[in-house]
Amino acid sequence: MAQFATMRNTYAFLACIYLGLSSVVVYGQLSSTYYGTSCPNLLSTVKSAVTQAVANEKRMGASLLRLHFHDCFVNGCDGSILLDDSSTLTGEKTAVPNANSVRGFDVIDTIKTNVEAVCSGVVSCADILAIAARDSVVALGGSTWTVQLGRRDSTTASLSGANSNIPAPTSNLSALISAFSAQGLSTKEMIVLSGAHTIGQARCTNFRARIYNESNIATTYATSLKSNCPSSSGDDNLSPLDLNTPTTFDNYYYKNLVSKKGLLHSDQQLYNGGSTDSQVTTYSSNQNTFFTDFASAMVKMGNISPLTGSSGEIRTNCRKPN
Ligand code: HEM
Ligand SMILES: *[C@@H]1O[C@H](CO)[C@@H](O)[C@H](O)[C@H]1NC(C)=O
Ligand SMILES: *[C@@H]1O[C@H](CO)[C@@H](O)[C@H](O)[C@H]1NC(C)=O
Repeated sequence: MAQFATMRNTYAFLACIYLGLSSVVVYGQLSSTYYGTSCPNLLSTVKSAVTQAVANEKRMGASLLRLHFHDCFVNGCDGSILLDDSSTLTGEKTAVPNANSVRGFDVIDTIKTNVEAVCSGVVSCADILAIAARDSVVALGGSTWTVQLGRRDSTTASLSGANSNIPAPTSNLSALISAFSAQGLSTKEMIVLSGAHTIGQARCTNFRARIYNESNIATTYATSLKSNCPSSSGDDNLSPLDLNTPTTFDNYYYKNLVSKKGLLHSDQQLYNGGSTDSQVTTYSSNQNTFFTDFASAMVKMGNISPLTGSSGEIRTNCRKPN
């Protein structure tokens, strides 16, 4: 008996060492000081460009955050979403979740140009996206986190990956959980990252069926959306994902879900009498918890399959391989 207890303690002890180490090495490929000597002004250079872009148009903060998400879910955070179609490359920009929807490429070009001017050929486009996403959230009043760096850029893209990996607004809860699980993200991380829909806009085509045909939507809310989203026209008309504070990064997304005012079918799936309701309730009443968990989940999403070492390249132009 005593021997078993000792064995058990030994295992527990080893497990503690393992967990202690793994918390250090989990993001071990990337580092917050990666450009510390090679590009010491990187962070301030990106921040001033993002701050200016968001000052020009607040929605741009949302668009830049979404670009990083759509980058990371397709073969990892490798800048693949930034590649233009060419005669030798099929990019991801025409994929269903991206076409006529993702934006911010001109801002990324400007940031890249500014970064190249202070340290040429050193900083990847994938890292610029990760920093710009963080700076966007901060610019709109949200939480901050330390961005891990050292990603390199892909020389290829995956149209089919973009179509299959990025969840659709028609997804049910189990499909949302699976899509994030496939990227190594937990259900709780899926819920907290969805809080990004506290900013930005969606097109009528993506919520028409919800406002005309669903019952788990506040009637007043559905009615108010219909004038700008007719039942058979106006596909590209925009409405805010968060009706209350669409340009402030706060926890209204979750408050809206609790009052059946999620814009997308997929949004309301998180609060629809299922297993994720209680986590939504928690975030709806505790913005600090949301901010803390969002920051950790963004670091984790940013660590999806980065290209490091001698893999990939540092693109000169984010729109095309060197
Ligand atoms: C949980 C699954 C998700 C689904 C089904 C989803 C779907 C969508 C859809 C359909 C839109 C509107 C696109 C349009 O109408 O053109 C949108 C916008 C947006 N999404 Fe998501 N999304 C999800 C998760 C995320 C995550 C994890 C993030 C970031 C961490 C994010 C950030 C955004 C932002 C900021 C916008 C507004 C972009 C803008 O205004 O330019 N989304 N999303
Ligand atoms: C959720 O959606 C998936 C894929 O569209 C479908 O196969 C599944 O049956 C749905 N699950 C529920 C519970 O409706
Ligand atoms: C609502 O559902 C009906 C029946 O399935 C369908 O015919 C109609 O096209 C749907 N309307 C919208 C706006 O999605």
